[in-house]
Amino acid sequence: MVYESCKGYGSETWIPLNKKTAGNDHQTVHDEGKQNVLLRVLRGDMFKKTKRSFSTFSVPVRRWTTVLDALIYAKEHSDSSIAIRFSCRMASCGSCGMIINGIPRLACYTKISELGYDTVTCEPLPNFPVIRDLVTDFQQFFNHHRHMEPYIENQYPVPREEALSEFKQTPRDIDNYLQFSYCIKCGLCYSACPTVATDTKFPGPQALSQAYRYSADNRDDAEKKRLDIVDNRHGIWRCHFAGSCSAVCPKGVDPALGIQLLRSHLMSISKTPKTLADLRKIDDDKD
Ligand code: SF4
Ligand code: FES
Repeated sequence: MVYESCKGYGSETWIPLNKKTAGNDHQTVHDEGKQNVLLRVLRGDMFKKTKRSFSTFSVPVRRWTTVLDALIYAKEHSDSSIAIRFSCRMASCGSCGMIINGIPRLACYTKISELGYDTVTCEPLPNFPVIRDLVTDFQQFFNHHRHMEPYIENQYPVPREEALSEFKQTPRDIDNYLQFSYCIKCGLCYSACPTVATDTKFPGPQALSQAYRYSADNRDDAEKKRLDIVDNRHGIWRCHFAGSCSAVCPKGVDPALGIQLLRSHLMSISKTPKTLADLRKIDDDKD
């Protein structure tokens, strides 16, 4: 992750929206539009304890210009002190989450032309302490994630009778957790969660859905341990299913579903002395 703009960036030619270039059809789609957008960035420094205020920049955009491109442009041409965090620029690293026109989004994955506004307002993610400008502190978020033991735990990583061979999984086994493994830990769901806003000890949608992701993996046998971690007054029961986490996820993960599935596992376990393996067998027998 980087806090300043990438070295070497800036070789690209920036062309105003409605400036026609001979032989370049792409420019024509913006002929009825404006040349520039107004970029508003909420600034502030937690170390200097300065009052937060907006800085505005006029930025030329093209059809495919992303909000991250615009921020980098403003940083390189107007004010190098704008603090932003980014790395991959392809919605994979989860570094560039921010509030864009009121909605948590990835700046590198948000095209300005698709926002449909002349003004683009960027603010740091709520539910995270702000370090400076658009850079927030993810320590608490990652602590919650780590607390869920987000890795496969298994006394016997491969079936004993097939030692030194791979652990085979059927497509159905994989389907139990696949969508949750697409999480890039961008924190957008965490920033949108109304329960996190009122209780910082609540693990949040990302951590809870990851607890489900590993528990639902048939290579793992630590589900009971994870259920004990989430079964407390600041834990899974505090979710009141607002669903905003799933609405903002840029990777198509449905953390609200993960939380409900984890709850159903928890209730099954508390109501019956049967082990999860027994429950899975009953489920399989019904099919
Ligand atoms: S569940 Fe989605 S929104 Fe939440 S951290 Fe993972 S990728 Fe980001
Ligand atoms: S820069 Fe990596 S997700 Fe946006």
